[in-house]
Formats: sequence, C-alpha cells, structure tokens
Amino acid sequence: MFKLLLLSFLFIFTLNADEPIMPIPLHENINIPKAKLGQELFFDTMLSRDNSTACVSCHNVYNGGADSLIVSQGFNGAKGNINSPTVLNARYNFKQFWNGRADTLFDQAKGPLNNPAEHNMDPKKVQERVSYSTKYKKMFKEVYGTYSITYEQVLDAIVEFENALTTPNAKFDKYLRGELQLTQNEHKGYILFKQYGCITCHNGINLGGNSFQKMGTFKEYHAHAKFPDRSHVSNDTEDINVFKVPTLRNIAKTAPYFHDASAKTLKGTSKN
Ligand code: HEC
Ligand code: HEC
Repeated sequence: MFKLLLLSFLFIFTLNADEPIMPIPLHENINIPKAKLGQELFFDTMLSRDNSTACVSCHNVYNGGADSLIVSQGFNGAKGNINSPTVLNARYNFKQFWNGRADTLFDQAKGPLNNPAEHNMDPKKVQERVSYSTKYKKMFKEVYGTYSITYEQVLDAIVEFENALTTPNAKFDKYLRGELQLTQNEHKGYILFKQYGCITCHNGINLGGNSFQKMGTFKEYHAHAKFPDRSHVSNDTEDINVFKVPTLRNIAKTAPYFHDASAKTLKGTSKN
C-alpha cells in the first residue's frame, strides 16, 4: 500500500514537473496610478497626428487585445502591412513584434507612435501634445513628481498599463493548478496538442512568445517580400520566413490568424 502511494506521488510529481505550460501568475506588481495614466494614453487619439488613432484602435483590450482586420488601419486610413497581434499578456513575450525587432515593451511602443501608417507622430510632438493638457499635467505630476513631461515618461506609463494586461485564471490556468477538470473533449484536445508536437513551439506561460520558428510546419510557406520576417533583423538568410511563435492565449478572439492573416478561422490554422 505504502509503495503504491509512493508511486502515485511520484507519478503526480513527474506529471507536474513535465508540464510545459505554466499558468499566468495570479498577481503581478503593478504601480496602479502609473498604469491608469498609461491606460488614458493607450486610449487617447491625441497621440496621433490627425487625432484619429489610439493604441486601442488596433488593440481592443476588451476583446482579445487585437483587431479583427487583415491589416490594421491607422493614420488617415493608412493600411499597415501585417496582422496586429494581441497586447494581452505581451509582457510575457521574450521579444516584441512578429520579427522580434524590439527587445522590450518600452522599445516596442516607439514603433507605432512614430510609424507614418499608425500614429504618425515624433517624440517632440508627443511630448508637446501631452504637456499641453491640464489633465495629463496633473496625472504626470502625481506619478512622476514633476510638471515637465518627457517622451520617456509617456512610454513608461503606457508600458505599465501593458504590464497590467494579463489574463490569469482562465479555465485552462485553473486546470494547470489542479483546481478543476477539463471536459473530456478539452482534455483530448490538450493531449493531441502535446502528441502532435504543438507544444514544442507553443509552451511556457504564453503558449508561445518565447522562440522564433520557421513558418509552415506542415506545408512549405512561400515568403512574401512585404512581410518583414526575422531575416530583416538578423540579416541571416536562415531566418527567411522565420517569425516569433505567437501566444495562443485568448486565441479564439483574435482572428484572422498568422502574420499574413491567411487563416480566417482557428480550424484554418491547422493547414499550416
Ligand atoms: C494602426 C494599428 C496599430 C496601432 C495604432 C498600434 N498598433 Fe501595436 N501593433 C500593430 C501591428 C500591425 C503590430 C505588429 C507589427 C509587426 O510585428 O511588425 C503591432 C504590434 C504591437 C505589439 C507587439 C505584440 C507582439 O506580440 O509582438 C505591442 C506590444 C503593441 N503593438 C502595442 C501598441 C501600443 C502601445 C500602441 C500605441 C502606442 C500600438 N500598439 C498602436 C498595430 C497597431
Ligand atoms: C515549429 C514550431 C511550431 C509548431 C510545432 C506549431 N506552431 Fe503554431 N505557430 C508557429 C509560428 C512560428 C506561428 C506564426 C506563424 C506566422 O504567422 O508567422 C504559429 C501560429 C499559430 C497559430 C496562429 C496564431 C495567431 O495569433 O495568428 C495557431 C492557432 C497555432 N500556431 C496553433 C498551432 C497548433 C494547434 C499546432 C499543433 C498542431 C502548432 N501551432 C504547431 C510555430 C509552431
């Protein structure tokens, strides 16, 4: 009997040790006033040259953290060149952007602000606009203790808001913590996810976001010059068609899929 108990303990222990996916932490340290300031900025169209576009225009944080378009629309209706990824749980990605050209959320945020097809601003203009607002003057003073607002503080506050955009406590997280059972079908799906090797690329807290891989596991993918893959960053031909493995968290809400939006549904993604 004792032997049996010991064996089953060992079995449970190895199961958990082998689990390649971790639940999203229940608590993260967030500076709340700073994150609230960041939220205001994230939602503010004033941060775009023609007052048309905010971060939230392409990253709907209430519904999956992306948009439902093939390519996003920004400044003056300009179209981007790649599908928008989710900002939810982006803090857990090892790099930002499909090709990982930004190491941090701080560096990432400079991208859309200065992109002519997105906010079409520049650091000086951002600073001027925000400094002009009495609302922001008050909020920045509260958070940074000074009335002279800098571009870096704007970025810093946006990042703190993004740091707060985590989605802990999904049913799957509760399952990973051993708090509930999945339905038979869900469990079967998870077993297959492991058996088919999805787990080799989609693992960790974010079920992805921690490696670069070649697009096209099941079928060869033909590069399209308009998509800046990892080779644009590394200058290495080995990296042609290589992209960051995206997170599969909240995936049901972020159609269409892949950097080129070539799959309209989750079922469609399995052909690649
Ligand atoms: C016009 C649409 C648009 C706007 C506005 C926009 N984004 Fe994005 N965002 C995108 C697209 C498209 C990408 C992917 C670009 C790429 O990888 O080359 C992206 C990527 C990101 C990523 C990286 C996520 C990942 O998994 O790699 C983060 C974080 C992000 N945006 C935050 C922001 C913030 C903060 C703002 C406001 C300052 C903002 N975005 C404004 C469309 C937009
Ligand atoms: C060799 C690594 C690898 C394996 C194995 C793998 N994927 Fe992926 N997956 C990727 C990469 C890389 C992308 C992004 C491709 C792109 O659009 O650039 C991706 C994208 C996806 C997407 C779309 C995500 C989005 O936001 O657009 C889904 C869904 C997905 N994979 C599910 C799966 C499933 C299910 C399996 C197992 C049947 C699997 N993947 C196996 C690397 C992998």
